[in-house]
Amino acid sequence: MAFFIGAAFLQNQLKLYQQRVQIELASLLTSEQHPDVTERLLDAMRYATLNSGKRLRPALIYAVAESLNIPLTQVDKAACAIELIHSYSLVHDDLPAMDDDDLRRGQPTCHIQYDEATAILVGDAQQTLAFSILTESAELSAESRLEMIRLLSHAAGINGMIGGQMLDIASEGQNIELVRLEQLHTMKTGALIQAALLMGAAASPLYAEVKQALGDLGKTIGLAFQVQDDILDIEGDTDTLGKPQGSDLQADKSTYPKLLGLEGAKRYRNQLIEQAQQQYQQLPFTSPFLVQLIDYIGQRNH
Ligand code: IPE
Ligand code: IPE
Ligand code: MG
Ligand code: MG
Ligand code: MG
Repeated sequence: MAFFIGAAFLQNQLKLYQQRVQIELASLLTSEQHPDVTERLLDAMRYATLNSGKRLRPALIYAVAESLNIPLTQVDKAACAIELIHSYSLVHDDLPAMDDDDLRRGQPTCHIQYDEATAILVGDAQQTLAFSILTESAELSAESRLEMIRLLSHAAGINGMIGGQMLDIASEGQNIELVRLEQLHTMKTGALIQAALLMGAAASPLYAEVKQALGDLGKTIGLAFQVQDDILDIEGDTDTLGKPQGSDLQADKSTYPKLLGLEGAKRYRNQLIEQAQQQYQQLPFTSPFLVQLIDYIGQRNH
């Protein structure tokens, strides 16, 4: 019974965060706001951004901010910025030169719906828009804005997502060591999830105090999230996932199930979720949403 109450609480809260960031994102991508931009580019940006993504990273920002009594208006731009970066990473991840997938968030991928050149430009535009809106976040001090830009650029760049994507490609068809795989996953997916937690706290007077513990938690849930993504590539179904099941197998990607076997990957995921719950206990604030979300990361089916 407790589980079901928890699940309903999580779903409701997640929905509120999803709706909030959806409105904010939509307001950034109107023709009125960008009168000189080709309608096709704006259309494609809306297509790749305003869809059925889970909005996990914005939700993490909102949840941490709420727990630290930061008004959500102060982190709306940060929530949009991280979702723009994440959505851009997916547009480029799906390109023929990368994972070559044709389905994303339950709809044809951006390069299928539009064309490859448009998809490349959409990703580039999402990325630059993310940083542009952070600089314009008038509700925040210049110091907080700078810290958020620092966190996001580091997590999205060569020491984070981009570096991880390069390792991912270089590891196709290889038998890499476990430490290398952990590095790959931590960089390509973990870094941005870790940045979400830290960006949620960056405007708090307690930031310096919570930074280390929050960063440790973010690293663990980021890794757990990608381990579960690997598991879902095997066990999920395309309709529920909204992306092609079996994509990793087809490309012979280096994944946790490939290295540890499916059961080994699940054991490792469970271990990470347990570790994350222990790290949560070390935080100097409470967030019932975060507790539920950590468990959800290990149980999600899409
Ligand atoms: C998918 O991320 C890509 C990874 C980094 C594992 P999500 O599972 O958060 O995808 P959306 O945003 O809900 O589509
Ligand atoms: C995603 O890794 C990492 C990104 C930075 C986009 P995957 O290639 O496993 O993500 P999916 O499974 O296509 O969503
Ligand atoms: Mg990929
Ligand atoms: Mg992919
Ligand atoms: Mg995947």
